[in-house]
Amino acid sequence: MEKLLSTLVENNVKYAVEGKVASYIPELNKADSMSLGICVTTLDGEEHCAGKYEEKFTIQSISKVITLMLAILDNGRENVFKKVGMEPTADAFNSIINLETKNPHRPLNPMINSGAIATVSLIEGENRDKIFERILKFTRKITGNPEINIDEDVYNSERKTGDRNRALAYFMKSTGIIDGDVEEVLDVYFKQCSIKANCRDISRIGAVLANNGVLPWNGERVIPGYVARIVKTIMVTCGMYDASGDIAVNVGVPCKSGVGGGILAAVPMRMGIGVFGPALDTKGNSIAGVKILEELSKELDLSIF
Ligand code: DON
Repeated sequence: MEKLLSTLVENNVKYAVEGKVASYIPELNKADSMSLGICVTTLDGEEHCAGKYEEKFTIQSISKVITLMLAILDNGRENVFKKVGMEPTADAFNSIINLETKNPHRPLNPMINSGAIATVSLIEGENRDKIFERILKFTRKITGNPEINIDEDVYNSERKTGDRNRALAYFMKSTGIIDGDVEEVLDVYFKQCSIKANCRDISRIGAVLANNGVLPWNGERVIPGYVARIVKTIMVTCGMYDASGDIAVNVGVPCKSGVGGGILAAVPMRMGIGVFGPALDTKGNSIAGVKILEELSKELDLSIF
């Protein structure tokens, strides 16, 4: 497996030159655009990695998977999906248009920025610090990594420049999707996006989802099977934004990307995959990361379809 993964890294790193590292969050622009790494965690707990798999990056939108799990655990599926839909969108991840034009005025799904901000507003906790502590604790649990923390520089960069997200959040407050203090909700959202991880951490989250909510390394159940099923389904239809259909055809497994260059994939009953390649395509997905997943899916016959 290591041999296969190394070959795939060698074959696909060239695509990075066709992409660009995210710069709309200034701190992200410091990443080395030619990095590419991958880790696979199988359901019997084996891990196989290649390339720049130890490099740390901020998980950005991959955190939307984590907060969706927690929001459903806290509120039940009905209450979450009253506030946020489960339909794909053909628009960009930070688009505002559907919030006003669609009725009801709720975000189309939990994987776009508006939907993730609405989702995190549902997570229980006395104040923003306590809510984020719960998110961090849960992230440490599902990665099996007690050292997971945030990247303070990315968090500050995001907080200073997150005006599009502020616009989305204040609009949702005006339509009753978000209750309470918008700045508190946004602060937790900026922090969840700034959680730092590597390919191994991400592949472990994928393995937990692939294993229907049970940690493969010790058999502990952390979420009910139905939560894992909902999250994986929404990852297939919405996880790669307006490229979700393309990825469903060409990779065929539930995936979630982040503008930090990470991709989380969960191959039901088989494995979790974590990929990192910070050069992005125009839709905000890792360009070499998508290519490596396409090739791995072909090699190992991973498509669920
Ligand atoms: O809110 C944002 O725009 C970023 N923190 C996260 C967006 C993101 O990762 C979209 N992913 N491809």
